[in-house]
Amino acid sequence: MIHLKQIKKSFQVGDQTVHAIRNLNIDIKQGEYVAIMGASGSGKSTLLNILGCLDTPTEGEYHIAGDSAFELNDDQLSAFRGKQIGFVFQSYNLLPQFTVLENIKLPLLYQKDIDQEASHARALDLARLVGLEDRLDHRPTELSGGQQQRVAIARSLINEPLILLADEPTGNLDTKTEQEILDLFDTLNAQGKTIIVVTHEQEVGERAGRMILMRDGLILSDTTSAHG
Ligand SMILES: Nc1ncnc2c1ncn2[C@@H]1O[C@H](COP(=O)(O)OP(=O)(O)OP(=O)(O)O)[C@@H](O)[C@H]1O
Ligand SMILES: [Mg+2]
Repeated sequence: MIHLKQIKKSFQVGDQTVHAIRNLNIDIKQGEYVAIMGASGSGKSTLLNILGCLDTPTEGEYHIAGDSAFELNDDQLSAFRGKQIGFVFQSYNLLPQFTVLENIKLPLLYQKDIDQEASHARALDLARLVGLEDRLDHRPTELSGGQQQRVAIARSLINEPLILLADEPTGNLDTKTEQEILDLFDTLNAQGKTIIVVTHEQEVGERAGRMILMRDGLILSDTTSAHG
């Protein structure tokens, strides 16, 4: 479903060129659960941003769900991103003045022609899925970190994306809360969702069926485990 071929990404900072990604070839199938690991600065977030069409590579080919991401114009790309890709970040990025339910529905605000009733039902289903059905009217400041991250995950799923991308989703959480989020990812993956998670933590990486280890903008290893 995802096909990256000879992807390179460099940033120009003054007269210095930073090669964040030197050369990557990756194929990811629908339903895979992939962890991207590696030291700070190895290019993980840069790769995730390219995968999520938030950034474009300097060189190379990127095909996703049969489309070449380069042949889409900016409008098509943002429409594709909104519909097919769910993002979860280390900082939950919830809107403080909105309730749990409103935050989950947030991505729908930018869409025209949506069925209000169906989307309300879907937001309720997702709140239930992440175990927050008794917190619908609470605001983010009234929730724990793990609960806020679960709201963010529910929000990322509201458009039924093909792919869930997460950058250090448990980076701000304690071990127990981290387990809750990883259990939720397991559930989602068992339901067929493709998940790609960037992490520093070995335990988080091991929960995924496939681990891609990066170093200096290159893939050092790419291993699929027996349980994956
Ligand atoms: N917008 C940018 N402008 C200039 N350099 C950048 C930019 N984004 C990333 N880089 C550089 O690219 C390299 C890879 O960065 P990236 O954020 O992908 O690393 P990372 O593996 O996610 O690290 P971390 O684990 O610390 O989040 C780094 O050397 C970084 O300084
Ligand atoms: Mg990063």
